[in-house]
Amino acid sequence: MERTETARASFAGLIGADPDEVAVTTSVSAGVSALASGLRPGGGRDRIVVSDFEFPTVGQIWHAQEERGFEVVHVAQGDAPVVPLEAFDAAIDERTALVAITQVCYRNGACIDVEGVVRIAHERGALVLLDSYQAAGSMPIDVRALGVDLLAAGALKYLLASAGIGFLYCRRDLSAKLRPTATGWFADEDVFAMDIHDYSPAPDARRFQSGTPPIPAIYAAIAGIGLMREIGIAETQSHVAALNERLIAGVHELGGSVATPLDPAARGALVAIRARDEHALVSALGAEGILTSSRDGNLRVSAHCYNTHADIDTLLGALGTKRHMLA
Ligand SMILES: Cc1ncc(COP(=O)(O)O)c(C=O)c1O
Repeated sequence: MERTETARASFAGLIGADPDEVAVTTSVSAGVSALASGLRPGGGRDRIVVSDFEFPTVGQIWHAQEERGFEVVHVAQGDAPVVPLEAFDAAIDERTALVAITQVCYRNGACIDVEGVVRIAHERGALVLLDSYQAAGSMPIDVRALGVDLLAAGALKYLLASAGIGFLYCRRDLSAKLRPTATGWFADEDVFAMDIHDYSPAPDARRFQSGTPPIPAIYAAIAGIGLMREIGIAETQSHVAALNERLIAGVHELGGSVATPLDPAARGALVAIRARDEHALVSALGAEGILTSSRDGNLRVSAHCYNTHADIDTLLGALGTKRHMLA
């Protein structure tokens, strides 16, 4: 229990929130599902606006709410690899209950103009949920500056921890207005009351938790967040930005192209390189000890604090021998 509270405080510190605004969950899915169960359609607000940059779990959870009377509206990417603010402007209206956006798209690394979406959503009375999984640990996050109402992320990626742990931030004054029906004893106002006769959720964001916390993963998350804060998340962001400049320039020199925005301010830590057969390219690089992944027809390169300029040169050297696999 004590370690869970330490994890809660670590997650809160990471995003500039207070610990009572954070639920320690087992995944983004668990936190967002609990949140969704606490939203009720009605009062003229029965629409959920979802950007096309969302991770599958987020899109699927909101579509599952169609069974409960919500309607899902998608906001598509434009010609450039970004979802333009005008598209949100057209999709969000007085019928919108919540807008789900992602800070850095897991497919192409593009960022959404979070403050812009928040401004439009709040003008029209809608909540904003931000999925920061691809941002947490790779760039500083300040929920107050971003103005989002809700934020979900996990510790598996740039926070150097394990699977089985995530968190959901819910703005302090909002928690009490949402009564999740996906719940459990660790969401109760008094976990050890052991009362089977009623539902009395915690007054704060803990109401989005469910069962026994993921103890082993909590140890990993506390260590990972501690390590990233010691290394420096802002420092990591500028280090990786320099690596990615070199990578993108090198890919262009090889005659390849990227699906990631070229404007450094419009992208996160990952770079998506267009490939003819991304699975074959991932395997060929893997055979040379270079670990990458693939998404959406592209090779995905996710550099972090431990990568060096020499690593990028090694990757570019390997891509040079596989130019025919670039698109
Ligand atoms: C943007 C984003 N959201 C969510 C997830 C994962 O969600 P969950 O913790 O539910 O598995 C990932 C994992 O790759 C992700 O990249």
